[in-house]
Amino acid sequence: MQIRRIDLADVAIVGDLWAEMSRELQQTVAEFCALSPEASDHFLNYLGASLVTGAGFGFLAVADGEVGGFALGQVKTAQPPYPPVPFGYITALYVRPALRRQGMGRALLRSLGECFRQKGVQEMELHVHAGNPGALAFWTSLGFSPLGFRLGRVLPPTVLDW
Ligand SMILES: CC(C)(COP(=O)(O)OP(=O)(O)OC[C@H]1O[C@@H](n2cnc3c(N)ncnc32)[C@H](O)[C@@H]1OP(=O)(O)O)[C@@H](O)C(=O)NCCC(=O)NCCS
Repeated sequence: MQIRRIDLADVAIVGDLWAEMSRELQQTVAEFCALSPEASDHFLNYLGASLVTGAGFGFLAVADGEVGGFALGQVKTAQPPYPPVPFGYITALYVRPALRRQGMGRALLRSLGECFRQKGVQEMELHVHAGNPGALAFWTSLGFSPLGFRLGRVLPPTVLDW
């Protein structure tokens, strides 16, 4: 397996992987958002712009000549009330189903982590859906632990009744 840095020529293949990931999460994770028809274009624009400006970066995993997964990250700055310290945000991580449990996710994360370290950040964060037990097991096995809970509810069309 090889891990290599994503560059602008990879935008289309990363877009395909992102669409695969989104379809899978829509089918398996109850809380995953409904994707709009423009979602793929929106992602491609985001990825292209973030690679051009350097705001984001990422890696592709290649096994037997085939792209098997990707990881994206960016450096963010903590917002008040936290001190304005930079941290590494993991925007996306995906490994094609047939290639899972062979260390590809871990290898992609290692590359992201090394890059974050070179950029001077000392912590990494990500969002994961509560209804995604495989991903939760993955992150936990790699030393991640909950920092809080993101809560939500649908607003009723009429007045709130609590
Ligand atoms: C999460 C994901 C990236 C893991 O990729 P992967 O290549 O299978 O992960 P690895 O093989 O590197 O796994 C490393 C360790 O994580 C744990 N792990 C990974 N997947 C797991 C699962 N489904 N159940 C339990 N533990 C798991 C194991 O401890 C594993 O080590 P082991 O195989 O030696 O036991 C992959 O399952 C995926 O793409 N899922 C769909 C997209 C997704 O949910 N992305 C994360 C969004 S937050």
